[in-house]
Amino acid sequence: MTGERTPYQEEHTDQSELIWRTPGSGSQPTPPAGGGDLVPLTDLPKGAEGGLRVPRIREGASVGCTCRPPRNARIAEKPFEARGCSGGRSDRERPRPGGGLAREPGGRGGRAGRARSLARSRSSRGTMDGGVAGLPALGALVGLGLLLRVAWALSRAARPHLLAARGRGAELARFGAWAVVTGATSGIGRAYAHELAKRGLNVVLISRSLQKLKQVAAEIEEQHGQSTRVIEADFTQGSEIYDSIQTALQGLEIGILVNNVAMTCTKEPVHFLDIPNIEKTLSDIVNCNMLSVAKMTRIVLPQMLTRKKGVIINLSSEVGRHPHPVATVYSATKRFVDFFSRGLEAEYHSQGILVQSVLPLFVSTNMTNNIIPNRYIKTAEDFACEALNTVGISSRTSGCLSHSMQSFFYELLVPEWFLFSSLGFKCTLALWSKLKTRMPSLKHE
Ligand SMILES: NC(=O)c1ccc[n+]([C@@H]2O[C@H](COP(=O)([O-])OP(=O)(O)OC[C@H]3O[C@@H](n4cnc5c(N)ncnc54)[C@H](OP(=O)(O)O)[C@@H]3O)[C@@H](O)[C@H]2O)c1
Repeated sequence: MTGERTPYQEEHTDQSELIWRTPGSGSQPTPPAGGGDLVPLTDLPKGAEGGLRVPRIREGASVGCTCRPPRNARIAEKPFEARGCSGGRSDRERPRPGGGLAREPGGRGGRAGRARSLARSRSSRGTMDGGVAGLPALGALVGLGLLLRVAWALSRAARPHLLAARGRGAELARFGAWAVVTGATSGIGRAYAHELAKRGLNVVLISRSLQKLKQVAAEIEEQHGQSTRVIEADFTQGSEIYDSIQTALQGLEIGILVNNVAMTCTKEPVHFLDIPNIEKTLSDIVNCNMLSVAKMTRIVLPQMLTRKKGVIINLSSEVGRHPHPVATVYSATKRFVDFFSRGLEAEYHSQGILVQSVLPLFVSTNMTNNIIPNRYIKTAEDFACEALNTVGISSRTSGCLSHSMQSFFYELLVPEWFLFSSLGFKCTLALWSKLKTRMPSLKHE
């Protein structure tokens, strides 16, 4: 075709569309049976809309139709079909027997119609070309957006700890003379009690073993020079213990309550039905981990509200963020603590009460079989110190920078669906086997 181009075609190579003009075509459109010239669409006389459309001719390219009827050639009734050619017509335009073009219903003819369809095809071609060319730019934009989101979330996770390290946390002694700590005889509770005394508060220690209580109280008085009181109570006993606790706390100006006491069902993760002595263990863990938090808050909060200041710190856990198979009940109780804290914070913040939900990862205590600390696993003392620095800065925290970063990347990289897939479950068990090698008290059993 390129070799056969007429002078007219040469002249109009950059015309976007040409149409056949048949001899004698004027106001009435006629079919191309009698042959004709190629004329640009824009040159058509008004009303000569019936001409045949031929594909756009581009420089160096052949037109869509390869069988151009020769000038003045006599073409039979169905010239183009007879040659197996559509002549570059749109599907809606079919030659009518006897001449002219029949339009199928819905077809829009005329100069305006063709101009519209031309514009449409141009714009769609333009969009496709532009779209393909724009893909890398779009990809880069999306990538940049994601990167910014991650950077923003990361800075949000780290910020409270950076502020805390610069001493921007609340001055704890100003909330009241006394702090109350449940489960204060070992682990994180004991460390909180020491740290609070170090910061100038007297401490009420509550736990189930009087002997241990007296020992910790003596340590605190000796090391920090603050007053202490001890209350012996077993939090697995349910509602009945709280009247005596309330009586023992009467008259104290309690500025800080640390709801720390908790237990796990077993020392090692097990399936739900493998929990030993399951009936008793279930009610014990609910009483100890959940009821204690709500009941202690009920006792202490009213006098905080009267003074319009106070801090309630509730120990939840990282496993309270997501369901945690093989520690299912414990993780569910920690979820309660987190939700309770967040709701309470919203209710009472405006009345001067700070409620903080603390969600640690691994801390080396009896609960974690005294797992050997490293940069990811904190000692109880380091953890309590860092976590107390965040009071007044963050109402929901992993407690320390290391745990916040671990929690952040865990959330980012491990989707919840994976955790509950069979592969995710196997990974959880494998992680536990690995961690057990760092737990001296388990290895000895
Ligand atoms: N350790 C971690 O890695 C970790 C991680 C996330 C969250 N947490 C949370 O941090 C808090 C403290 O954990 P922890 O590791 O320090 O635990 P822990 O070492 O087992 O200490 C628990 C404390 O609670 C007391 N206690 C236990 N059962 C009690 C009961 N029925 N009645 C009264 N007192 C009771 C214990 O007293 P005895 O000495 O008499 O047993 C001990 O003083 C818990 O809320 C836990 O869920 C811990």
